[in-house]
Amino acid sequence: MSSRSIILSDSARAALRDSSSICILTGAGVSAESGVATFRGKEGLWSKFRPEELANIQAFIQNPELVWEWYQYRRDIVTNAQPNPGHVALAQWEKRIAGFTLITQNVDGFHQRAGSRRVIELHGNILRNRCLKCGNIGAGQEVPFKEKVPLCDCGGMLRPDVVWFGEMLPAQALNDAFAAAEAADLFLSIGTSAIVHPAASLPEVAKASGAFLLEINIEPTVLTPMADLFLEGPSGKILPELFDEWMAQRANVE
Ligand code: OAD
Repeated sequence: MSSRSIILSDSARAALRDSSSICILTGAGVSAESGVATFRGKEGLWSKFRPEELANIQAFIQNPELVWEWYQYRRDIVTNAQPNPGHVALAQWEKRIAGFTLITQNVDGFHQRAGSRRVIELHGNILRNRCLKCGNIGAGQEVPFKEKVPLCDCGGMLRPDVVWFGEMLPAQALNDAFAAAEAADLFLSIGTSAIVHPAASLPEVAKASGAFLLEINIEPTVLTPMADLFLEGPSGKILPELFDEWMAQRANVE
């Protein structure tokens, strides 16, 4: 057990102790301590790259090699990095309670690598390919992009299986995410700026449905005024402590 430094109010302790349906939304901040850049902020990806040139279908059609180069660069970062203690705490948490839904906006696959079994990926997965022509998922993803755009067996161009600007989120994932948010009695929003919809609506839906809303971030966000509890700090430190606190609270009632 790690030594705990977070301080919880009585109502937060009760929310932890009594929760039977926990829903978690993660964003790029949970992977920051693994060495993967977030999107916004001074060091964020969008301050160095132009989304309109890289993360949309028109950009891909116009210059697939450039888009692939960027995604291969990010794939290499993710492949060479490791999940951090925040990811691990969430994977342990899942094993301890049936009512646990982990929703992520991240495409890096760290939650699964840390041991999480059920992960709702709202924005796809950067390590997976999808065919532009036949929609086939998974072809050729083990072969790194060099200079030529990878092709599917059907002859269509393969693209990274991530959601680009202007595209719909995967319908099943979105439905499952909103159902879990509505059913939650404890909702954690972790490491997300909470401004990209529809994901950013999930904490609002949970709160409107009666959930205790707990936010973890290194700085306040647009969601913070709505949160029942804001824990300020890196998720790789706070999440293991919060999980320990949850375990301690549960031990008091079991
Ligand atoms: P952002 O880059 O918008 O926000 C990252 C958040 O993480 C910020 O609020 C930071 O303060 C916080 N943060 C940074 N380091 C942290 C740490 N160690 N612990 C806790 N919090 C930390 O990333 P997202 O909210 O995930 O979409 O962005 C949402 C979507 O916008 C992404 O999924 C992506 C992007 O466009 C697509 O690619 C479709």
